[in-house]
Amino acid sequence: MKKNILYAQSGGVTPVINATACGVIETARANRDRIGKVYAGKDGIMGILREELIDTSKENKANITALRHTPGGAFGSCRYKLRSIEESRREYERLIEVLKAHDIGYFLYNGGGDSADTAYKVSQISKKLGFPVQCIGVPKTIDNDLPVTDSCPGFGSVAKYVAVSIMEASLDVESMASSSTKVFILEVMGRHAGWIAAAGGLVAREEGDPPHIILFPEVPFKQREFLKKVKYAVENYGYCSIVVSEGVRNSRGKFLAETGTRDAFGHAQLGGVAPVVAEIVRSRLGYKYHWAVSDYLQRSARHVAAKTDVDQAYAVGAAAVKFALEGKSGVMPVIKRVSNNPYRWKIGEAALGRVANREKMMPKSYITADGFGITPAARRYLGPLIRGEDYPPYDRDGLPKYVRLHNVLVRKTLPEFDV
Ligand code: F6P
Repeated sequence: MKKNILYAQSGGVTPVINATACGVIETARANRDRIGKVYAGKDGIMGILREELIDTSKENKANITALRHTPGGAFGSCRYKLRSIEESRREYERLIEVLKAHDIGYFLYNGGGDSADTAYKVSQISKKLGFPVQCIGVPKTIDNDLPVTDSCPGFGSVAKYVAVSIMEASLDVESMASSSTKVFILEVMGRHAGWIAAAGGLVAREEGDPPHIILFPEVPFKQREFLKKVKYAVENYGYCSIVVSEGVRNSRGKFLAETGTRDAFGHAQLGGVAPVVAEIVRSRLGYKYHWAVSDYLQRSARHVAAKTDVDQAYAVGAAAVKFALEGKSGVMPVIKRVSNNPYRWKIGEAALGRVANREKMMPKSYITADGFGITPAARRYLGPLIRGEDYPPYDRDGLPKYVRLHNVLVRKTLPEFDV
């Protein structure tokens, strides 16, 4: 009998996570003779526990194709942590009951490091509970901090958004600087890893080009040196353009901006470092400034996605289905860089255990000796990831034609379960 696929999106979404969903569904449809339906968890694993499964077979071909260019998470995502099997036994058992009730043979979990851990645990417990399911992790995270894979789907597009934004905003501040604003600060995401902030550095190709300063989470913030550099840029180039990562910490290891809340995984909620840095500039140097927090704008900016990233996001979805058909479990498709010039990549395979719960930071060799910029090696790594454009179609009103799915739920057969 043909088994069904259960696909779920997890954690923070990306501009291209739906391209991965598109890859999963189109590949499964192309293998109709061997795969039943593709169900999607409503709001990720939370929906699976509640037996809220979306039947993607109710969506027509055009809607599924349109997922490739639609940002957000089409089925909903969540931050919900399944703890150890001992601590969360009832939830794991419930999960298996749901998988059993809907003839799921393949569980495809699309997320970051925490999600790889969950997929790994589900693969173990499903065997123990006598209903073995093939579990495949599918990578995504704008933070680009998953180990093993050369890059993470979602990152390239956010990197491109940040590079383009700092390039454009810098032209603005440069025009105003003689009589008005002298400093512009762009805050970007990335939590503990500076990959996204580093991408802003791709714009600086010649001496004096913006951004003049990048503040990385990997480099403890040193106020005196920072202010010296701001002053130097203003005095020599007329203005100072800065990219700051939300995860920047002081020399005592404390985040410069921590809102005080934590998510289900225990991650501190970050955000708001740009005004902190701006206030330091104002109080010490007196320059007029503007700041921006790119926040969800960067994570949803599908209109300026990188083609490389869209292609890779689609490819990991398609590969996950192929892995499932090859009988694999406990693995994740990853991106392998074959060459830099020309940039070539292919899909590889990694054991989930090697990916789970580990963060890949920027190597020292990617950060300049003064700690405020990127090196040629970083440029070689980052450059290809933002290349290519993949514009969404636009309607007559000038807006992108993004799809909203119907998300029809499958009839429940199990008792209610509180999540
Ligand atoms: O998914 C990673 C990430 O985008 C981080 O860069 C950021 O700190 C975090 O998610 C924000 O998460 P949330 O949307 O849950 O507040």
